[in-house]
Amino acid sequence: MSAHEWIAVLDFGSQYSQLIARRIREQNVYCELLPYHTPAAELARRQPAGLILSGGPASVFAPGAPLPDPGWLELGLPTLGICYGMQLMAQQTGGRVSPGQEREYGGARIRVTQPGALLAQLPPEIDVWMSHGDQVAELPPGFQTLAETATCPHAAMADENRRLYALQFHPEVVHTPQGAKILRHFLFDICRCRGDWKMAAFVEESVAALRARIGAEHVLCGLSGGVDSAVAAALLQRAIGDQLHCVFVDTGLLRGDEAREVEATFGGAFGADLHVVQAADRFFEALRGVEDPELKRKRIGALFIDVFSAAAREFDAARYLAQGTLYPDVIESVSPLGGPSVTIKSHHNVGGLPADLQFELIEPLRELFKDEVRALGRELGLPEALVSRQPFPGPGLAVRILGEVTPERVALLQQADRRLQEELRRLPNYADIWQAFTVLLPIRTVGVMGDCRTYENVCAVRAVSSVDGMTADWFRMPHDTLDRLANRIINEVQGINRVVYDISSKPPSTIEWE
Ligand code: XMP
Repeated sequence: MSAHEWIAVLDFGSQYSQLIARRIREQNVYCELLPYHTPAAELARRQPAGLILSGGPASVFAPGAPLPDPGWLELGLPTLGICYGMQLMAQQTGGRVSPGQEREYGGARIRVTQPGALLAQLPPEIDVWMSHGDQVAELPPGFQTLAETATCPHAAMADENRRLYALQFHPEVVHTPQGAKILRHFLFDICRCRGDWKMAAFVEESVAALRARIGAEHVLCGLSGGVDSAVAAALLQRAIGDQLHCVFVDTGLLRGDEAREVEATFGGAFGADLHVVQAADRFFEALRGVEDPELKRKRIGALFIDVFSAAAREFDAARYLAQGTLYPDVIESVSPLGGPSVTIKSHHNVGGLPADLQFELIEPLRELFKDEVRALGRELGLPEALVSRQPFPGPGLAVRILGEVTPERVALLQQADRRLQEELRRLPNYADIWQAFTVLLPIRTVGVMGDCRTYENVCAVRAVSSVDGMTADWFRMPHDTLDRLANRIINEVQGINRVVYDISSKPPSTIEWE
């Protein structure tokens, strides 16, 4: 959205680069991540209000270390270098960087010696998060030290005349509690941003842009039951009303109430043109006797494309197909490791449609992060249960039922899962859970109920915290929650007599079991 003031982050491959962009947007300032080699001329043309040089895993001394177009300095933009970005700034403005003998990684306490505009109104000592090897040994001409630690004499530096600032530590992570304040100083006091990135404005602008692009044409949108497609559809509905046609494939493999909720929201409250394709029988048929996880994924993926394509052919008057692509999918990523990656699981999403379906794509969410999509959904009046829904795999509950998938086993899992969700919503730190679900195992164990022997299913409970699903840690669930949950599942769900809790992290495990 070039009409907005914005901050450009040159991405040198730090694991925190996306986080920098999110932190800035949280301050109502639009922000985009650009590859580190973006030409200075492009920056000049797009006129950001400020520039951030991100951290990165390289050393400025490494052969082939990523360097920005040296022209960035001539643009005269207020600039903040973070970690590797600080070392680059020092090196390119005539300072000296010394190679680190050892990596300093973890919490540190810095002393603010000369706050300047960046560290204004902070306590004299603050806790920060460091993660670096090299560091600035001699300041470039015109720079002053703003803060120090015992081992890092220039933990922050600035040339206030040229509005060049740099931090050896990471203000974007939660382990730097004053980080948001530091970023605010950069955005509002140094770059003079106004903070015009608000969801209400986004709705208005997007609606106008979508209307202008679509004109009198028709748009087809596949609803998956998840947040992204629902928000995309709600935005399009606001923009073009009955020129939007929604298709929802009920695979029979969804969590409990999703199908009903989609119908109630889009078919009911929103009055959208919703077409529900009841395909559960076909999916169960395709999965009959299938136990191998990859085969399940392939069968479901292929059938989904068949069913969706058949439905889509009925809308051959539609010119566009809407997709809920998000910003993290479109960032031209700078891989610190490079090289091809192996397929761990064949992911399934709506997409990969046959060539004879000639839709043009429309992606109304491609500028947004997931948390912004949720905020947008609320702004558009979608129900909270839908907006705050956790990520859900394309193949649905099929990959949470180990072994053969049958309608009976899906029903059993849905019952267990509902109880898990009810119990978790009572937790004060519910928001720390990225995903939580139950898994039905392909074994039976012996139990005793009343005076009778039982020989029934085992259900595993999985809950993880994560930032993006790429890595995850198992959620430290309170024992009394685990206790209540196990009791409820075993007593209330007939067919399950044992509950276990999964304490594996990713890596080396994955979030889903298949
Ligand atoms: P894994 O199991 O690979 O999951 O650690 C990482 C995240 O991706 C979700 N997931 C999928 N999402 N299509 C999707 O759109 C899929 O086929 C799929 N498989 C897994 C998973 O729920 C977790 O959030």
